Amino acid sequence: MKRQVRKAVFPVAGLGTRFLPATKASPKEMLPIVDKPLIQYAVEEAVAAGVDTLVFIIGRTKNAIADHFDKAYELEVELETRGKTDLLQVVRGIVPSGVECVYVRQAEALGLGHAVLCARPVVSDEPFAVILADDLIEEDAKEGGALSQMARLFNKYQCSILGVERVPKEETHKYGIVHPLPFANRISNVDDIVEKPKPENAPSNLAVVGRYILTPRIFDLLQTIPRGAGNEIQLTDGIAALLNEEQVLAYEFSGRRHDCGSKLGYLVATVEYGVRHPELGQQFQTYLRANAHRLDEFAPAADA
Ligand code: UTP
Repeated sequence: MKRQVRKAVFPVAGLGTRFLPATKASPKEMLPIVDKPLIQYAVEEAVAAGVDTLVFIIGRTKNAIADHFDKAYELEVELETRGKTDLLQVVRGIVPSGVECVYVRQAEALGLGHAVLCARPVVSDEPFAVILADDLIEEDAKEGGALSQMARLFNKYQCSILGVERVPKEETHKYGIVHPLPFANRISNVDDIVEKPKPENAPSNLAVVGRYILTPRIFDLLQTIPRGAGNEIQLTDGIAALLNEEQVLAYEFSGRRHDCGSKLGYLVATVEYGVRHPELGQQFQTYLRANAHRLDEFAPAADA
């Protein structure tokens, strides 16, 4: 019988050091792009792909995510009393009916591989998705969200799939980079994967970004691999072990990605989602057009 991806793991237990102090008491995945936190965009992408169980790996700042997805009775009553029915629908629709949220505590931030391993008791022996919510990927008008595209591939090939993107050669040191062997249009067989190689050592410029579909065999491997870079259990090392045993595909998804784990990527995403926002997009565009020439006034050049 063909297996389907029904569970998605959202590791949100990182320290988020690049966004301190904003991430001191709340995970970076709660940072909003205009009016929605990053984690909610990720959950919507997963649900659209057919996922019905959301597994959040929570850490130090454990309450913020659970509070966001829990039912908020007092807020709902207040909105109802004030007749704010539109907002009531927004709040009630955060978790669609039929979708279950499970929270697993990662007691210590021992790395992404360890965070994924924490999901084992919930995922058990099923294939599952991993979504890093700080990689915000715009939905493609024709092909749908990145995870939907990958889930369709999984249905066909029944093997692990890594979401990849071509990056400038000089940026390979920021990503896990695959050594691809041709397979089909936008799909490669992964022959090897290297964590953060220097450009001169990179096997390609195909970078693994925050979307994975993995078979449950990865759990056994994550359990046994030694700690890697930064003394952390690296998901990349687990995948490197997996591809010695099973087929692993790399898939170049359609859809623009914003690296919201970096401040610049986050600001760019805020502007781009802002100008398209159904309520305030027009006003924001008008503001930007009218004020572009005042940039020097807002931020005078150092030698001015
Ligand atoms: P990052 O490498 O982006 O690290 O983690 P980080 O701690 O979140 O952020 P910076 O670099 O310090 O600013 C990649 C993903 O893995 C999760 C993070 O929450 C993020 O989604 N993660 C990382 C965990 O859940 N647990 C860990 O131990 C490490």
